[in-house]
Amino acid sequence: MKSEKSRIYSALAPLYDTLMKDVDYEMWADFIDEVIQTHHPNPTQILELACGTGAISLHLSEYEEYELTATDQSPAMVERARQKAAELEAPVQFDTMDFTDIKSSASFDIIFSVFDSVNYLHTSEDILKMLRGCHRILNPNGLLIYDFSTPQNSLEAVDYLNNEEGSFGNYRYFRESKYDPELQFHYNEFDIEEMSDDGLTVINRFREVHKQRIYSLQEMLSIVEQTPYHLVAKYEGFDLVDADENSTRITMVLQCQKQRL
Ligand SMILES: C[S@@+](CC[C@H](N)C(=O)[O-])C[C@H]1O[C@@H](n2cnc3c(N)ncnc32)[C@H](O)[C@@H]1O
Repeated sequence: MKSEKSRIYSALAPLYDTLMKDVDYEMWADFIDEVIQTHHPNPTQILELACGTGAISLHLSEYEEYELTATDQSPAMVERARQKAAELEAPVQFDTMDFTDIKSSASFDIIFSVFDSVNYLHTSEDILKMLRGCHRILNPNGLLIYDFSTPQNSLEAVDYLNNEEGSFGNYRYFRESKYDPELQFHYNEFDIEEMSDDGLTVINRFREVHKQRIYSLQEMLSIVEQTPYHLVAKYEGFDLVDADENSTRITMVLQCQKQRL
């Protein structure tokens, strides 16, 4: 039996949609669309960063005429997204890309990223790299939309995320979750087992340790202030309601002002 420490979102990729089965991605895609239509109606080219298995872009492709490209660092997540797109005959282009090293010959009206993905960036320098990369490929007045989770969210969520278990097909997983409020790091540790077809024997074990830096609103605003983006809005949850320090998930809407960063 092999036992290995995997890069994040590799061994977890076949289980990801099971892990997220209670997430209302359709509502989330509607919210992103509402933000787009409120602040930049009728965009053409849209890029999603850290798309995972593609749920948001696949939903958007069902009811909007956007030209959608969706990217993620993990080849296994992108592969799963491509399979889903093929099954749905959805016109979304999926590619692998690290959002701290954005490379694209195309330019975009909208770039977005959802569901804590930006919390995988552990320093303000990494966030600045992401912001600068997006700035280079956004059209003038284009929008960068991304959410992040806050200390309030980790304090509320850590207990119900801890000791979670589940299974899908030949895989089963166990998750431990812990939050360090002083350093503002949230850890989710997944033990994943691949079972034989008869379900009696473990044939592979994997371990993924997910470490996320949790940002307060003030910290995120200080980072954004170092860039020429114009802050259009900061929304709480999934409504067009202004966020504050008590918000658990904040969606930033930044407008690209074209000058050198
Ligand atoms: C919590 S998942 C969210 C996925 C997707 N946005 C969703 O809503 O289901 C975080 C995603 O961020 C991706 N990710 C983490 N670091 C990344 C990086 N540096 N560049 C691109 N994607 C990254 C992971 O591969 C993973 O798919």
